[in-house]
Amino acid sequence: MMETLFTAEVIQAKVKELAARVSSDYQGKDLHLVTILKGALVFLADFSRALTIQATLDFMVVASYAAARSTGEVRILKDLDFPIKNRDVLLVEDVIDHGITIQALVQTLLLRQPASLKICTLLDKPSRRAVAIKPDYNGFVIPDKFVVGYGLDFNEQYRNLPYLATLRKEVCERV
Ligand code: IMP
Ligand code: MG
Repeated sequence: MMETLFTAEVIQAKVKELAARVSSDYQGKDLHLVTILKGALVFLADFSRALTIQATLDFMVVASYAAARSTGEVRILKDLDFPIKNRDVLLVEDVIDHGITIQALVQTLLLRQPASLKICTLLDKPSRRAVAIKPDYNGFVIPDKFVVGYGLDFNEQYRNLPYLATLRKEVCERV
């Protein structure tokens, strides 16, 4: 039913590598990590602890809905606790697929005038991209397969798996 895509060890090595790059690039800056719940939670926990620089954290809950495709709107269910004006914001994502969610979010957050706004994603599925958006930091480029584990879910299941696995199409289509 499931096939391992990346083991916990492989993920940890990649997360450390990303954190080292970000730590070096943001040296002396005011790094503020913004995470969209819930998928990126596990990645954020490991990534933020692997940073060698100080960072603050904030969280958002958004709903992506069909209308966002044309309007670039995103419905915010839980907004950030803190303003981001003049801050160096790094959006921490689990996976960029069509890119619509993150694109809409970037547009919304840019209106708040951060000093900078970049994207760090663990997984990138560029083959299904519907908008021109590229992560500034990316862990793994993966093919168009449905992945679960390490925070990612299928109907809220499998988030707590310590590794990443692909779910067979038959399983996804049963629901
Ligand atoms: P999109 O880039 O607008 O398609 O939305 C990306 C969001 O869809 C991610 O933040 C995930 O919540 C979800 N998603 C996309 N691909 C997968 C996957 O393979 N497994 C689990 N969730 C996924
Ligand atoms: Mg997500």
